[in-house]
Amino acid sequence: MKRRDFVKGISVAAAGSVFTRSFAFTPFLTGKNKTLTIGWITDVHHGYCADAGSRLEAFIARANQRKPDFILQGGDFCHPTTEARSFMNIWEKFSGPKYHVLGNHDMDKGNKKQIMELWGMEKPYYSFDQGEFHFVVMDCNHILTDGKYIDYANANFYIENPRRDLVNPEQIEWLKEDLLKMRMPTIIISHQSFDDIWTGYTVPNKLDVRKVIDDANSGSKHPKVIACFCGHHHLDNHMVINGVQYFHINSSSYYYVGEGFGSDGAKAMYADPLYCFVTLDPAGRISIEGRSSHFVSPTPAEKGYAHAARLSASISDRRIRV
Ligand SMILES: [Fe+2]
Ligand SMILES: [Fe+2]
Repeated sequence: MKRRDFVKGISVAAAGSVFTRSFAFTPFLTGKNKTLTIGWITDVHHGYCADAGSRLEAFIARANQRKPDFILQGGDFCHPTTEARSFMNIWEKFSGPKYHVLGNHDMDKGNKKQIMELWGMEKPYYSFDQGEFHFVVMDCNHILTDGKYIDYANANFYIENPRRDLVNPEQIEWLKEDLLKMRMPTIIISHQSFDDIWTGYTVPNKLDVRKVIDDANSGSKHPKVIACFCGHHHLDNHMVINGVQYFHINSSSYYYVGEGFGSDGAKAMYADPLYCFVTLDPAGRISIEGRSSHFVSPTPAEKGYAHAARLSASISDRRIRV
């Protein structure tokens, strides 16, 4: 565990009720006590990053060596175009279970139905069990127009918050029901964030989602939702809110700095492909085996980008006790 994570965890725990919820996994144990490992990649951005294919190749090659229980891509993966077929062929080279999360840019050049067909994804939001854990995949890709929640399609979402990146009310009700019947420790995965990351641009109705999470945790003898993971923000971050661990998994490819600040147009590229392996231990630990890289020169710092000091071209190794 990195010292800053350890200190952060302890300080939040001491300030709130988190401390009394430590070791919450124990009551859920089935006796098998088997860890579960996930190969995780997000925000590869095929169709925007010229080397997206080779970044995915590196991940799949490592996953085939490491043999996680399943792999997951966290959104902003590719578009439903003919050029994406060869990219998908790389993804298919992992023979184990594979899961998808819808990201906003996946609907830049098509609608949800089209990208889901390409991926073989049955529903835009769903849940599943693997090992001794329950996983919920959320879809935050809705805009609010004239009082209606509309799916992202063909880049219709290039509007300012708070009318984009929304979770539709039916999905919030579905989440409530899903958590109500669940007895296993649960991980919630979304593309956009429900936490309080410094950049902002989080899900505008995230507090509705967090209320469902907090109600599920407080209404049960032991917390159900132990962690939330997101991509989208292209950051390497971790925070604790009401006893729930919130992780940002960094993009495999770049941070968007805008024209004039990047090594590749508006993109500050990472020199190496980023991905990670997340291991969940029913005894009460979440471990992330990340990858370190650096920005391709000229870096955001060299270009004088205002937030350069807060960016990272890595996914940190973490060991978090829950
Ligand atoms: Fe992205
Ligand atoms: Fe995104």
